[in-house]
Amino acid sequence: MKFFIDTANLEQIKEAQDLGVLDGVTTNPSLMAKEGIKGHENVINHYKAICEIVDGDVSAEVIATDYEGIVKEGEALAALNPQIVVKVPMIKDGIKAIKYFSSKGIKTNCTLVFSAGQALLAAKAGATYVSPFIGRLDDVSTDGLELIAQIRIIFDNYGYDTQILSASVRHTMHIIKCAELGSDVATCPLSAILGLLNHPLTDNGLKKFLEDAKKFQ
Ligand code: G3P
Repeated sequence: MKFFIDTANLEQIKEAQDLGVLDGVTTNPSLMAKEGIKGHENVINHYKAICEIVDGDVSAEVIATDYEGIVKEGEALAALNPQIVVKVPMIKDGIKAIKYFSSKGIKTNCTLVFSAGQALLAAKAGATYVSPFIGRLDDVSTDGLELIAQIRIIFDNYGYDTQILSASVRHTMHIIKCAELGSDVATCPLSAILGLLNHPLTDNGLKKFLEDAKKFQ
């Protein structure tokens, strides 16, 4: 399973990249706003900076919600760097735009996916990635992981190339369960990625090894 980091914070992206396990980055307007990035030029420069840090795909979300606007914005984003994946919302004009981008060889990430039907539409339109938001489903008492399992079955039934990019991942168990279910990618906060390191028996075991090592040094 590929690990993407779900942030626009350059320090966190660098930290995950330095760990050597990072396959890409996802951003969204809320994450960009959180970093205080304002104005078209700054936004564009920020995407370029992210692409310089990582080797893999970088999702950049369009703001337009009409077909022409999505296409114009998406083409401009895609032209920034071959790593850019145009992130398009799961709406009617978004699906049309994904079909267009797919015909032009532009990578897409269909975002705000909350049902298997939406994921199926995105795959049929030729999306590179589909982003089901598991944490936000959990927030409204609906099992987000069940959606990942459902989409996996549907994509496998028909051999869709669209990759399942589990998003709105909140903690380590989400990551582990996504891996069990065959999600192609999990995009996670840095805290969840680093959380995978933790086990008290590792800490205790290392402490004891280091104490015993002193006995023969
Ligand atoms: O990038 C989309 C998604 O990962 C957002 O997550 O935590 O705001 O639900 P969250």
